[in-house]
Amino acid sequence: MADRVTTGTAITGWGVWHPPTVLDNHELCQAFNEFVRRDNAKHADAIARGEREALKESSPEFIIKASGIERRYVHDKTGLVDPERMFPNIPDRPEEELSVQAEYALHAARRALEVAGRAGEDVDYVVLGASCLQRSYPALAIEVQGQLGSRGHGLDVSLGCATGTAALQLASQAVQLGQARCALVVLPELTSPHLNWRERDGHFILGDASVAILIEPLARAKGRAWEIRATKMASKWSNNIRNNCGFINRCDPSTMDAPDKLFHQHGRRVFKDVVPMAEVFVRESIGALGLSPDQIDRYWLHQANQNMNELIAKRILGRDATATEAPMVLAEYGNTASAGSPIAFALHQDDLPVGSLGVMCAFGAGYSLGSLVLQRAA
Ligand SMILES: CC(C)(COP(=O)(O)OP(=O)(O)OC[C@H]1O[C@@H](n2cnc3c(N)ncnc32)[C@H](O)[C@@H]1OP(=O)(O)O)[C@@H](O)C(=O)NCCC(=O)NCCS
Repeated sequence: MADRVTTGTAITGWGVWHPPTVLDNHELCQAFNEFVRRDNAKHADAIARGEREALKESSPEFIIKASGIERRYVHDKTGLVDPERMFPNIPDRPEEELSVQAEYALHAARRALEVAGRAGEDVDYVVLGASCLQRSYPALAIEVQGQLGSRGHGLDVSLGCATGTAALQLASQAVQLGQARCALVVLPELTSPHLNWRERDGHFILGDASVAILIEPLARAKGRAWEIRATKMASKWSNNIRNNCGFINRCDPSTMDAPDKLFHQHGRRVFKDVVPMAEVFVRESIGALGLSPDQIDRYWLHQANQNMNELIAKRILGRDATATEAPMVLAEYGNTASAGSPIAFALHQDDLPVGSLGVMCAFGAGYSLGSLVLQRAA
């Protein structure tokens, strides 16, 4: 009989953290619609002359129906409910102070370490990822490594919403190769600064949260453990989700503050492209282990759109998935970019008995896709 396929590594700890401030769809739309009315009044003449299109109002009913999002956690809402501002107030911090994204990372990391029964000094590899990193260098991962008193080394990675699954694979591979024995993956998704809160098509999408996952050799797991049976990545070039914010921006002041320097997407096109890609990708991920979709107890899918996840799960299973089989955290958290599917995993794995199988799968900008097939080992 062929050897059982496994990486020999396991998820041994997980922790989720979010800022305490909630912004629900009603408050969000109230501020947005006030911004729209003021902007249209300011440009009434140009609109009347046909030189400018009037902005349209948003509605909580549309947001729920189109996305499944009811509310989100945000770092600061004073700036988001101010129709004259429409972006968060986040005071700059002196270089001697802990940076905001490292703070997000530490909140989640400490929870993950506690679940695994490990301390900061046990960690010998930190992979920190986010769809947007607050700076280029020094790496935020190294700041987190220093704060936790960890050994080894750290690095930052970014791959849109698939960042989390890519970071988990890097960590699992390092543990497989014996380069690390206790790898911390942390995804501090501070997304509110790069969302365009003035754009009707997308102003409701993103939310702030942080999640951490610890990976160790399966044999070293102290308590509950999810064995990583297999991993997979795929990518295919697309411009449909993009953010042009970067260090070259200031070299062209005429476009420096243009809306393309924030998250923007062709949501409908993304929906149409990604549903079939994700279906095939998940089938291949589990098929590589000789498993069929109905043998998978749980699907922790990327949390971008409820209708999209329902459709993907239905195409994989040939029937509707139950809310337990394919759990959603979107209604409460909004789209937390690369943190979404790991948060779904962390919050919806406890009830599954030893031997259960699950797939974590993320998909997003790039396009990029990543999956981990997990089996509860202890
Ligand atoms: C973004 C998304 C929620 C939009 O939902 P949608 O059903 O595709 O909506 P559309 O953009 O096609 O807009 C439908 C209609 O609602 C209108 N609309 C758009 N935003 C609106 C808002 N905030 N309030 C009210 N109406 C709105 C549009 O103008 C359009 O009107 P029309 O039919 O008269 O032209 C959805 O496409 C999506 O989530 N796609 C996947 C994105 C994804 O996974 N991205 C990954 C990011 S990490």
